[in-house]
Amino acid sequence: MRIFSWSSRGFYTRCSCQANNMKRFYFSVPFTLLLGTLVMCVYFKDPDKLFEPKPFYNVTQNKFLQKEEDVVSHTEALPQKCEQDMSAAKLPGFALFSDQIQSFLYYRHCRSFPMILDLPHKCGRPNTPEDIFLLLVIKSHPKNFEHREVLRKTWAKERMHNGKWIRTVFIAGTGGSGFVKKRMNKLLALEHQLYNDILQWDFDESFFNLTLKQILFFEWLDRRCPQVRFLMNGDDDVFAHTENMVDYLQSLKNNDGSKHLFAGHVIRNAYPIRARWSKYYIPYQIHKKAPYPPYCGGGGYILSRYTASIIYNMSRTIEIYPIDDVYIGMCLAAAKRGPVIHMGVKTLGWYIPSQNLDKYDPCYMKELLLIHKFSPAEIFVMWNEVHNPKLQCGLRQKKWWNVVK
Ligand SMILES: *[C@@H]1O[C@H](CO)[C@@H](O)[C@H](O)[C@H]1NC(C)=O
Ligand SMILES: *[C@@H]1O[C@H](CO)[C@@H](O)[C@H](O)[C@H]1NC(C)=O
Ligand SMILES: *[C@@H]1O[C@H](CO)[C@@H](O)[C@H](O)[C@H]1NC(C)=O
Repeated sequence: MRIFSWSSRGFYTRCSCQANNMKRFYFSVPFTLLLGTLVMCVYFKDPDKLFEPKPFYNVTQNKFLQKEEDVVSHTEALPQKCEQDMSAAKLPGFALFSDQIQSFLYYRHCRSFPMILDLPHKCGRPNTPEDIFLLLVIKSHPKNFEHREVLRKTWAKERMHNGKWIRTVFIAGTGGSGFVKKRMNKLLALEHQLYNDILQWDFDESFFNLTLKQILFFEWLDRRCPQVRFLMNGDDDVFAHTENMVDYLQSLKNNDGSKHLFAGHVIRNAYPIRARWSKYYIPYQIHKKAPYPPYCGGGGYILSRYTASIIYNMSRTIEIYPIDDVYIGMCLAAAKRGPVIHMGVKTLGWYIPSQNLDKYDPCYMKELLLIHKFSPAEIFVMWNEVHNPKLQCGLRQKKWWNVVK
């Protein structure tokens, strides 16, 4: 059988299988090149098409597995694009507000945004749901790659403690614009593929959009993970002693997640800040003179799945307020529920009685649940110190939650 031959019309690829009485197939070189170019074009336009299914990283098995329909499930309808509400500009004094406040008012009514990265099976599958005891929900700006990397190696590592699963999701919008936004989206997509722990929606990250992020998360939880028992909702720059959290939650009598729990650093009788230069400035037109209902500092608080569903239910009819932790307090108040103080949560810094004591003393941290605010390097050091079996602490203190009622 001759495959190649020359003829007066050029180079031909020829398969002659005359024994089977088959017709000859001729592929001229120009035709082969054209076909090749087409295949290359398809490849570079959408390389995934040729290499599906993509592998994904399974943390428990510590290896890559075949990816399923994990990126965005295309079968679900995407929400309509939410349009700017031009009537917001009619509010008295609107022209004098900062860009941040103006864009908040223009988009205040928007509550659904398409998901860019979803985790449909984070909590198992419909017929095999996973019993997650504590879900760590960490608000993270796309640019905070170092924070997420350190958290995955320290307190937010997915693992079992006392026979209970701790799982992690980082929740994010989009950062920057143009090429910067594209690059940051790529970063999150890579992390999502590698660690299976990113939820991302298509809205601009900003301080005044944190409430929106929180509502979108509760909506996701209601749909994808209603059976989780407890949640820790917090920032990516805190030090959380997640094993102490599991111990504390296990010590609760008569609450397996199906009853109300909302615990953290409780703030009472706070008023909106009226100083125009402040990051927290709220004009009278947005909130009248009235104290906020009690709420927990947004750096980190603990709640049950029951309370999460109450908050989500209430949020559907309560207008979005730009400060996320205050807004959650408003939802709780509307449901006639309140937060409880947990002395182990310090979201407003902490007080150390003497100059001679190191405020980063691991013996102090060992007894806490959560403390604000740490750099990635400080988190890394502290986590390792707190878990150092050789750590010597003066007197064996009782855990905070056993001392303070
Ligand atoms: C990873 O592997 C473990 C053990 O086989 C399995 O139980 C778990 O569901 C897998 N995780 C994901 C996200 O598929
Ligand atoms: C919130 O996100 C929306 C959608 O991306 C955006 O139009 C709006 O400007 C953002 N709001 C603030 C206050 O940044
Ligand atoms: C939230 O609302 C849904 C439907 O409206 C209801 O089935 C559910 O019981 C509510 N949850 C709580 C905790 O009130």
